[in-house]
Amino acid sequence: MSSKLRTVFTQDAGVDVPLLCGAMYPCGNPELVAAVSEAGGLGVVQPISFAYVHSGSLKVGLERVADLTQKPVAFNAIIEKGSKKYERAMNRWIEEALDFGIRFFITALGNPAHVVKLVHEAGGIVYHDVTERRFAQKAHDSGVNGLIAVNRRAGGHAGIRSAKELLGELGDLGLPVIGAGGVGDERAFVEMLNLGYAGVQMGTRFIATPECKVHADYRQAIVDSDEQDIVLTKRLSGIDVAVIRRGSIVEMEAGEPGAMLSWFLRQPRTKHWARTFLALRSLRALKRSSKSAQNKLGYGDVYQAGKSVAGVHEIEPAAAIVQRFRNELEAQA
Ligand SMILES: Cc1cc2nc3c(=O)[nH]c(=O)nc-3n(C[C@H](O)[C@H](O)[C@H](O)COP(=O)(O)O)c2cc1C
Repeated sequence: MSSKLRTVFTQDAGVDVPLLCGAMYPCGNPELVAAVSEAGGLGVVQPISFAYVHSGSLKVGLERVADLTQKPVAFNAIIEKGSKKYERAMNRWIEEALDFGIRFFITALGNPAHVVKLVHEAGGIVYHDVTERRFAQKAHDSGVNGLIAVNRRAGGHAGIRSAKELLGELGDLGLPVIGAGGVGDERAFVEMLNLGYAGVQMGTRFIATPECKVHADYRQAIVDSDEQDIVLTKRLSGIDVAVIRRGSIVEMEAGEPGAMLSWFLRQPRTKHWARTFLALRSLRALKRSSKSAQNKLGYGDVYQAGKSVAGVHEIEPAAAIVQRFRNELEAQA
């Protein structure tokens, strides 16, 4: 194995290629997670996606993954304070994931200390999603093993810094850092590793695969879009989310939710409540629209994607993507 393929991250995760298919709500489905892991990368389980969109429960989704691969997968725990019901569900899912044998956890949006304790007791590893130094410092102090640095080109909840700036401000924490955002092709992948990242997390590129159970129009919209088609909106979850403006069922405008919700989102006491409200509203809208669609997921109201659409030129199996990226890295060694 070439030295570029081996990083602290590949050792922590027990994988061959320093490449993750990041958690994706609502598109992360068991077949996609398994395909990426089976090919040598690391597929990340999004429990809300598994339980509410694809499999009926996290357990059924994890069993489906286990039918398809014996290789390691990771688990995404969004640990932001929300309703008590959500917090109880997430704590139960974390236990279920550990019982299932998952040992690589990716925490996001909150204080990861309690997850770190549980996962370390079980002999596992925790990386934490960050967009800037102050969150990384807190995660470091909570004992995480690594960081996922979400930059401003990312799909999902985009960050605010460039990949280079972010690595620059996190470098001295002494933790391995995965770069997330803006990587759609193997050239960009190798560039991120050359910057000093220990691996790359991609989302958008893996939506344009046959394994990702979204509507065919969504996959095609990713292939057809360029980076100027991506806008940020707060209307889905209260935090900026990257979506394709052109081609989404609802023609998206960059923008804010209504004035009242925007106010609630700014107040420390009510912001968690407001985000939960928006996330639940999006989930209900997704359920309504999926009933009438041809595929199970069908049309959500929007097509989420990051600026990495610029590097996506065809719909391609997940394994072919992992192999192509691996070949490029080996060729550089
Ligand atoms: C449709 C979509 C949904 C996402 N949902 C989540 C999520 O539930 N949890 C999470 O930690 N990251 C989420 N992300 C972020 C991805 O895991 C990953 O970091 C990001 O997509 C990387 O940027 P890229 O899309 O340019 O490759 C999502 C991204 C996309 C595109």
